[in-house]
Amino acid sequence: MTEPKPSILVVEDEPKLRRLLELQLADEGFRARAVDNAESGLQLAGKEPFDLVVSDYKLPGMTGVELLHALKRINANLPVVIMTAYGTVEAAVEAMKAGASDYVLKPFSLAELVLVIRKELAARELRDENRALREALGKRYEYNNVVAQSGKMQAVLALVERVAATNATVLLGGESGVGKDLIARAIHEHSQRASGPFVKINSTAIPENLLESELFGYEKGAFSGATTSKPGKFELADKGTLFLDEIGDVPPATQVKLLRVLQDREFERLGGTRTIKVDVRLIAATNRDLRAAIEEGAFREDLYYRLNVVAIDIPPLREHKEDIPALANFFLEKFARESNQPVRTLKPEALRKLIDYHWPGNVRELENIVTRAATLAANAVLDAGDIHFDSESSSRRSGASLSPVLPPGMTIEKWEEEMIREALRQANGNKSQAARALGLSRNALRYRLSKMGVPDPDDAAEPAQ
Ligand SMILES: Nc1ncnc2c1ncn2[C@@H]1O[C@H](COP(=O)(O)OP(=O)(O)O)[C@@H](O)[C@H]1O
Ligand SMILES: [Mg+2]
Repeated sequence: MTEPKPSILVVEDEPKLRRLLELQLADEGFRARAVDNAESGLQLAGKEPFDLVVSDYKLPGMTGVELLHALKRINANLPVVIMTAYGTVEAAVEAMKAGASDYVLKPFSLAELVLVIRKELAARELRDENRALREALGKRYEYNNVVAQSGKMQAVLALVERVAATNATVLLGGESGVGKDLIARAIHEHSQRASGPFVKINSTAIPENLLESELFGYEKGAFSGATTSKPGKFELADKGTLFLDEIGDVPPATQVKLLRVLQDREFERLGGTRTIKVDVRLIAATNRDLRAAIEEGAFREDLYYRLNVVAIDIPPLREHKEDIPALANFFLEKFARESNQPVRTLKPEALRKLIDYHWPGNVRELENIVTRAATLAANAVLDAGDIHFDSESSSRRSGASLSPVLPPGMTIEKWEEEMIREALRQANGNKSQAARALGLSRNALRYRLSKMGVPDPDDAAEPAQ
């Protein structure tokens, strides 16, 4: 049985190039259809199931972005490779933002284009296969040290599994304490580099003037105080994984150097002339919105695209509360092991209290609170009274001197949510009382609660408490 040939739609207004592509792609074993304008391309894509589109970016009558959006509306999973003129990398970046899978810069060789096409087709196949397999087996991902019972965390592990097998650069996103470090290590440990080093560097923990020498190393005499030469983290991570934590805080000059290493896989030590090549898989993490940082000019867009080959966003704990019971037990067992004590358990009321909390500090905060409760509790079974939240005391403290500026990482919406939860807590869950304390009508409070995704038992029956 012969495999069906992958079908490719070519959209190119320049007649010679269009004809050439049509013929040469056919030679390469693809089924190619070519049209000379965006309009006909869209019509054809709506009628026939193509595996991939190769399109010029500058077409008469429609901008490349418009064409991409229209194609994505027809089929969101259709890979689109953009051809754009040399020297217009901005256009390529714009196209990637609009959903293009990859781009080639004109003039390109056929070999180059075919390489990109095959890569995209393989990636798509892998995605489909993976999904089909998992659905068929109902597979669940089990990782040591990672609690992931919820659908959202299973989805994270599914991505980890897929990306671990490759050398692709990974960008981990998520608030502080969600598990970015943990997931970075999981990727390393499930990769072919697992026997190699895992090296971490945190850009906020290192003074700006030392960051580059830490990353790239230095030669003797590179600066005053450099009495010996020293390899940097990139060299130390050779054949392994380099984890760049808090990438959003890397200063601009260092961003340029990182970009070069990502592009060429080579660099020099500070004060050195020898070019060093390394074989390193890079994982970067950030708790900042890098897109916003790009808009503000604080982060290089080209570096962003180099890092963001695969993005894994780890949800905040309040969005996967199903994991709280297993996480709490996991931390209680860990505490028992480390302190050589019998494992403590949670009364249902204590667990309830953990589940009802909004977890601004995510899993890290849960770990702290559970561990503290286990340390201080008098009994082996923890009660609700043994659970003390950080923000109970801190919000009381900050309440005295309410600052008009939100703390870092806080948004008006999150702040409002915290206020509402705090008011409810102080009113022991009585909504009328909480609404009064907030200066809201009961309906206004209920509206806000439904927006926050807090189920309203009153919808079904009158309060039973
Ligand atoms: N899904 C999880 N299962 C078990 N432990 C977790 C999980 N997520 C986070 N942790 C633990 O919570 C703490 C904070 O996680 P960390 O990876 O340092 O977060 P981040 O790097 O995002 O700030 C660590 O001790 C980590 O092991
Ligand atoms: Mg971290």
